[in-house]
Amino acid sequence: MNVLHTIAECRAQRATCDALALVPTMGALHAGHISLIEEAHRHAPVVAVSIFVNPTQFGPHEDLSKYPRSLEADLENCRAAGADFVFNPDLAEMYRPEIPEIIVDLPALSSVLEGKHRPTHFRGVCQVVAKLFNILQPTAVCFGQKDFQQLRIVSAMVETLDWPIRIVGCPPVRDPDGRNKYLSPDERQRALSISRGLFAARREVESGVTQTNRLTATIQKPMLENHLNIDYIAAVDPLTLRGVEHVTAPTILAVAARVGATRLIDNVTVG
Ligand code: PAF
Repeated sequence: MNVLHTIAECRAQRATCDALALVPTMGALHAGHISLIEEAHRHAPVVAVSIFVNPTQFGPHEDLSKYPRSLEADLENCRAAGADFVFNPDLAEMYRPEIPEIIVDLPALSSVLEGKHRPTHFRGVCQVVAKLFNILQPTAVCFGQKDFQQLRIVSAMVETLDWPIRIVGCPPVRDPDGRNKYLSPDERQRALSISRGLFAARREVESGVTQTNRLTATIQKPMLENHLNIDYIAAVDPLTLRGVEHVTAPTILAVAARVGATRLIDNVTVG
């Protein structure tokens, strides 16, 4: 497995293959990322992983320096999952200081849900993802459905800008113990109330409930019982991300909440 650090190296490597599947990451790889790399193998004979902690998607109150970094372990995981190469640029390679800032934004999709709480986040995501797509020219790119808003925004960006790239959404890998390296054992247990609420709401839809205010109340109950600070519980259309009152078509039930100092997001699709 090659580890590349420069755009020039990527261009040379890309010229050697017809099709490439990319898994963009910020490192600190876990089971969810590994499943994305495994899925990527189904979409192209060559699989690349990018590892770059992108500063432009962090807000002014989000501590970039606290973001976990574990490059050696990440490279080992990529190797074990069969990645062909890893692109691990440094900051100056991605954001050369002499180049003026560019904003890539889809305001209708990026100003709701997560975007309300993290107003510049998706601009930063679109900026770095657009650069990675231009540098690596993937034919397919795998994203986790856990960040469904990111997945939707990137899909809309590719469609709007007519990039010949297939965006593949991959199901989340749920840890039954709620293991999350930011959480204490007590917080882990309380965090499980999020998926419990979402699964209970999904069962309600399966038994015929359509009113989304009933579903959001079902989701809210265990979260309040476990003293989570809820940022939002929403029922939205998967394409427009606008709120819906009745589940008459596929609908995403999405949650963001804080457990102690850690902010968590999760979602399920119903209907
Ligand atoms: O989902 C992530 O890890 C990041 O937002 C991404 C897509 C790698 C862009 O930095």
